[in-house]
Amino acid sequence: MPNPTISNAKPARHQHSDAGPTQLPAGEGVRLQKVLAQAGVASRRAAEELIDAGRVEVDGRIVVEQGLRVDPENTVIRVDGTRVVVKKDLVHLVLNKPRGWQSTMSDDLGRPCVGDIVSERIAAGQRLFHVGRLDADTEGLLLLTNDGELAHRLMHPSFEVAKTYLATVKGELPRGVGKKLKEGVELEDGPASVDEFALLEVFNGQSRVRLELHEGRKHIVRRLLDAVGHPVIRLVRTNIGPVALGDQRPGTLRVLGRKEVGGLYEAVGL
Ligand code: URA
Repeated sequence: MPNPTISNAKPARHQHSDAGPTQLPAGEGVRLQKVLAQAGVASRRAAEELIDAGRVEVDGRIVVEQGLRVDPENTVIRVDGTRVVVKKDLVHLVLNKPRGWQSTMSDDLGRPCVGDIVSERIAAGQRLFHVGRLDADTEGLLLLTNDGELAHRLMHPSFEVAKTYLATVKGELPRGVGKKLKEGVELEDGPASVDEFALLEVFNGQSRVRLELHEGRKHIVRRLLDAVGHPVIRLVRTNIGPVALGDQRPGTLRVLGRKEVGGLYEAVGL
């Protein structure tokens, strides 16, 4: 599947109405407690308790009756306000991309690419796509999914969620660099800034820093750090919004948790 293209049209923030559950013809759809159980929210029994307690929302309305039938392909379900992704065929993975690998699912020049890692481990892995890119020399968190709407929004400039990077840079950083980066520096394609900056360590003529920013222009972190005179030696992306790389080993994949997917949906207004 090709990568979703990015259009400049801003997606509607609220795609779904809050008109409440759609009435399905008798016998169609799947019972709400079963859908919740299949999505890994809770056992069927515990899902019934969640419904009883008024914690489950279907298409914008709290549902307290048991046995409501819903269409998992089209219904927006939230538990305690967090979106539960109930479409069965949606896959959301985190890869810790190793240094030296292309972010793409295939590479015309035969260079090692993310597609090689995925297809080795996941049947039908080639149907996934990567959400944005990391430079070949950048390591860390790359989201892979077949969830086109989520991916589209995560890459859309108007929804850019915060991303955190750990960078090792040349030189011992003087005080004031963080302030300068937060205030913004002029790059060849316009100004850029970071939201958060922390100097973590200075050693042997190098410094380790943590930066958070919410934009995704090409080579943005490398260019920002170049602009303040401290070229990057090593760059790792550790977080995208509510998703953290943690101690996941390079080259490994993991399935995103339900709360992480819900958090990503929330971050992009789905
Ligand atoms: N910024 C960069 O410079 N490179 C990346 O891979 C990601 C962000």
